[in-house]
Parts: sequence; C-alpha cells; structure tokens
Amino acid sequence: MIAQAGAGRATAGGWAHAFGKVILLGEHAVVYGVPAIAVGISRGAMARVTPSKEGPSVLRLEGLPIDLRADDDERDLARSFRAVLEASSVRAPCLVEARADLPPGGGLGCSAALGVAIARALDPKADAQLVAERAMGWERVFHGNPSGIDTAVSAQGGCLFFERGRGFERVLLPAIGPAVGAEGSGAASAGKLLLCVGHTGTVSSTKSMVEGLARLRERRGPIVEKSFDAIRALVRNARLAIEAGDVKALGQLMDLNQMLLSGLFLSTQEIERLCGRAREVGALGAKLTGAGGGGCVVALVEDENVAERVLRSWKDDGFDGFLAETPGQPATRDETLARASARESTEPSELERSP
Ligand code: MEV
Repeated sequence: MIAQAGAGRATAGGWAHAFGKVILLGEHAVVYGVPAIAVGISRGAMARVTPSKEGPSVLRLEGLPIDLRADDDERDLARSFRAVLEASSVRAPCLVEARADLPPGGGLGCSAALGVAIARALDPKADAQLVAERAMGWERVFHGNPSGIDTAVSAQGGCLFFERGRGFERVLLPAIGPAVGAEGSGAASAGKLLLCVGHTGTVSSTKSMVEGLARLRERRGPIVEKSFDAIRALVRNARLAIEAGDVKALGQLMDLNQMLLSGLFLSTQEIERLCGRAREVGALGAKLTGAGGGGCVVALVEDENVAERVLRSWKDDGFDGFLAETPGQPATRDETLARASARESTEPSELERSP
C-alpha cells in the first residue's frame, strides 16, 4: 500500500521517553489473568527518529556494535523493530536511535521501555494507550506471551492496577515521609513509594521464565492455580493498602507474594539473599520483581535512612542497587520536554505513514 502523509508524525530532533517499571505484586500470575500492581520508574529508555533518504529503516541501539536493518529476518531485535514500524504504519525509511538506562534481563522492563520509546518517537502525537499497543509487537518477539503490563506501565507511568485483557486503573500513591529537599520542614512528599532496587548480578530471560511456569502449570495445575488465587488476594489487598497509605501492610503483602513466587520456583539464592538483607536492616517488605530467576529485587522502605541502610547492606554483599524514583504523575518533566521538542521538530521531517 502506498503510504500517505498526515496520519501521524515522527520527529527529527526530539527524544521520546519511556518509563522503566517495578512490579510490586502479581508478576507471572498476571499472564493468566490475575491482576498485578506496577509502578513506573524514572529510569527508562529514550528514542529519536531521523528520516532517511533511502531504506530500509535502521535501528541504532546504544551499546550494540552494529545497526539493525528492519529487513533483517535473522535477529530478534530487528524483527521487533519491524513490528513497531508496522504497528505504527511507518513506511518511509528512517534512522531510529535508542538507548536504555535499565539493566537488560533485569526485570525492570528494559525491553518494553525500548519498544515504547521507539513507538513514541515514531509517532509523538499518539496517546500512551496507543503507544503501548504498538509496542506489544516488539514485546511478543522477545517474550512470546506478554501480559501487556510492562508496555502499559512503561507508556503510562504512575502506579497501575493492571488486568490482562481489561486494561488498567490508576492507583494513587501515598504521601510518604519528609519531602525530598525540604530539610527539617517535616512536610510530607505527595504521591510516591520509596523503593530500593537491587540487582542479583545475573540476568534472566522473561520468555524462558514464563515458559517454565507454563510447564509447571501443565504438570501441577491445581497447586499453581492455588498460588495464583492467593496472589490475587494479595494484589487486591495491596491495592487497598496503597490507597490507605498503609505501607507496612503493603510490605507484608510483598513478603507473602515472594513466598508464593519462591514456591513456583521463580526465586534464586541471590534473590533470597538480597530480600533477606533488606528485611534485616529495616525494609518493610522485599521480593523479586519481574520474571525472577535472576534480575532484580524490590524492597519497600519507610524513609530514606532505611533506604540508605538497604543499599549499603547490598553493596557490602557485592550487589548493586539504587533508590527508584516513582513519579506519581503520568508524565515526567523530561517526557513533557521530549514531547514538546518532538512536536516542534515535526514539521519539516514528517514521515509518511499508512492511514
Ligand atoms: C515480566 O516483567 C512480567 C511477567 O509477568 C511477564 C508478563 O507479564 O508478561 C513475568
């Protein structure tokens, strides 16, 4: 089909932003229709698009030694790239540059963030929902059977109560502790959770973890279903706890979720070690986040002193970690700027797209 201009736009100058994500409760079970709760974190991915004179379109991913052509059938990344171009109806050749500030295979939604950033860069005027849908083709190449939670949170930001096939509802984050930068004021900072993220140092493949659980479910269906039922109850209670600002209860629910995830063989020694150390030094709760089998853990803390203790205890044990920012608003300032700059630079560089 001949492409037509005007159905949407891509930009020459602006960088589009996508959030990383931390799943607070419900990973894996969410693939089977159980709700899950996740928050967008400021660390994420960026992408920008420059029209090219001739095709095929090319993806230049920071850290990769080669550019990936959209007509390359051999590489997963190239096929993912083609899926987003097609979903965005972009036919005109372009160069897409992308970079992520998240560990790949770490459970923080690196791949979804890249897909979302690229989809957003290809069409800066598309709303977050459409961007997330377009990024799903990218996710499917890597993950086989993604629930959609990663792309939804990456595109939307904030805290989402997500159910596969039903979409999401926003959950307002509670005000916690003294405001950052307001020393001695005692003022509450609105709308955030204090989350320490620790990396086990090993990566895992979401696809193989999801497939592993699917095999366990085939063999031990009733036991796995019972775990999913329990996770459903935890997630629903966690939503109530967040809405009530009861972070202690939220922490306990996260611990219980971790026990169930361990029972489904999704945990590792390093994950247990990181969670244990965090609890020892005062975290309210800790669990793996994302696919498990390696990757990251999340520890909920009540204030920044405990956060420091958690991060120090991990460092002493040789693990990297950071305090995640969880912007309560759907759009960060960076994203707003990226979008504004994208709009400004749209006019001379409009890509042709199918209707
Ligand atoms: C991965 O971040 C979350 C999983 O639940 C998979 C999915 O929801 O697609 C493990």
